[in-house]
Amino acid sequence: MPSTLRLSLSASAALVAWLASSAAPASAKPCVQFDASWNLYAFGGTEDVSLGQNTTWGSPTASPLTTTGRPPWTGNNTQCFLSQYNNAMYVLNADASNPSDIYVFNFDAKSWSKQATSSAPDLSTGTSILDHDTNVFFTLPSGSSASLYQLDFGTITNAASSSAAAWEAVSATSFQQGGQGAVLAEASNHITFFNVPNNPAGSANMFVVHYSYFQPEAVAYKTVNNAAANFPTQHGKAIGVPTTDNSAGDVMVFVPDDFSNSYVVTHWTSPSTAGQTSDAPAGIADYINSTQTFSAPTSHDTDSSYAASDSAMVQIDSTGALYYVTGAFGNGWQVPSGLSWQKLGYTLAGVTSTGSSNSSSTSSSTAASSSATASRSGAASSGAAAASSSAASKTSSAGASAGSAAASASASAKTGGALRSLNGLEVTLVSVALSCFGLALVF
Ligand SMILES: *[C@@H]1O[C@H](CO)[C@@H](O)[C@H](O)[C@H]1NC(C)=O
Ligand SMILES: *[C@@H]1O[C@H](CO)[C@@H](O)[C@H](O)[C@H]1NC(C)=O
Ligand SMILES: *[C@@H]1O[C@H](CO)[C@@H](O)[C@H](O)[C@H]1NC(C)=O
Ligand SMILES: *[C@@H]1O[C@H](CO)[C@@H](O)[C@H](O)[C@H]1NC(C)=O
Repeated sequence: MPSTLRLSLSASAALVAWLASSAAPASAKPCVQFDASWNLYAFGGTEDVSLGQNTTWGSPTASPLTTTGRPPWTGNNTQCFLSQYNNAMYVLNADASNPSDIYVFNFDAKSWSKQATSSAPDLSTGTSILDHDTNVFFTLPSGSSASLYQLDFGTITNAASSSAAAWEAVSATSFQQGGQGAVLAEASNHITFFNVPNNPAGSANMFVVHYSYFQPEAVAYKTVNNAAANFPTQHGKAIGVPTTDNSAGDVMVFVPDDFSNSYVVTHWTSPSTAGQTSDAPAGIADYINSTQTFSAPTSHDTDSSYAASDSAMVQIDSTGALYYVTGAFGNGWQVPSGLSWQKLGYTLAGVTSTGSSNSSSTSSSTAASSSATASRSGAASSGAAAASSSAASKTSSAGASAGSAAASASASAKTGGALRSLNGLEVTLVSVALSCFGLALVF
């Protein structure tokens, strides 16, 4: 091969790789969420989509949502919450440049609006919850001296207001956080704090929302229903499980970063008299303050995000691959045995993996989603996308074997996004790159 041609070939690969990285979102974290009728949605890719009811998830029809007013999805700590009363979703840390903006998606009108907030804590770290009954956010940034903050969305409902909403400091925590921070979820109007240093497995700290009070002692959970283990004191992700009748939920799922299990944690406290159980929901008695387990999510990607309906749980990992388990909740309080995760028949294109996937057991399914993503890009812009996705695979082939499938999936997905948003200069550069690619084919 003449050296000039070799040079232009590697230059073209470099150009295509540069285009892929320059036009893609910085570090979008996709999320999944349900509306109040349990239709599933995936957000934060090249597009946001509605994926419908659980009966269709094997091969869903993905309906793109409006792009008008959608977030840039550039945050690195994005969290999406269902406000069940308002059939709305609120997105925290969706815009890295404007970290205190909160995006509101009205599921009925399928429209976005953007709520400005003031005095916001650092939302690029830590976790938040949305209190079911009051529509108030609570946020705990990470850091050993961080305090709990709150923000009242009671009057925001399903559309932003024109005036900024003000965050308020609530109080210091009753414990000191470790490096990766506590992980928050809500059950029975109490905020549960997983991953508090020095708590034994199966113990979590607690904040009583309605009394704005940190309980001084950690609460111990018992294992029930042949649980494989109690939840570890470890960083991870936690979500609340909503209820069919739109009452405050009593069930959370914690997925630790070691993916040892999915831990279903049930908490209930009498709203009137502490310790009393006579007004507890039917059938909950044996499950109050308990842990059950089912299998860990399929993709062991610590950058995954999760959502639950009243019966199902869904994972989206940082390559845009989606997995679900149905029938997990709403069977009384008992988690059935033998639950298994399924791959949803759609992959969200255009999200950027940060490469923190932590398991080789996911590589085959991730590879499958990689080719699906690449072929979607190919369909959108024929040979150009094919050329650039092969260049993207080449540039990422130096990555470690477990992560490389995910890396190339996201690189090719990024390229798809880049090709859709070219400016004049980039078109010229792509033409140069493609003509070099053409030469390579001839050669
Ligand atoms: C997110 O970005 C902020 C600054 O933009 C940084 O301080 C923080 O460490 C980042 N978090 C992660 C998990 O990368
Ligand atoms: C990866 O998984 C191992 C065990 O499965 C765990 O100990 C480790 O903390 C995980 N690392 C990350 C970054 O999630
Ligand atoms: C459950 O935990 C709460 C802590 O908020 C405690 O007040 C309550 O007494 C516990 N209930 C039982 C039945 O252990
Ligand atoms: C599908 O979802 C609905 C609403 O959550 C639920 O009632 C039903 O049991 C689910 N079906 C399966 C097979 O999980």
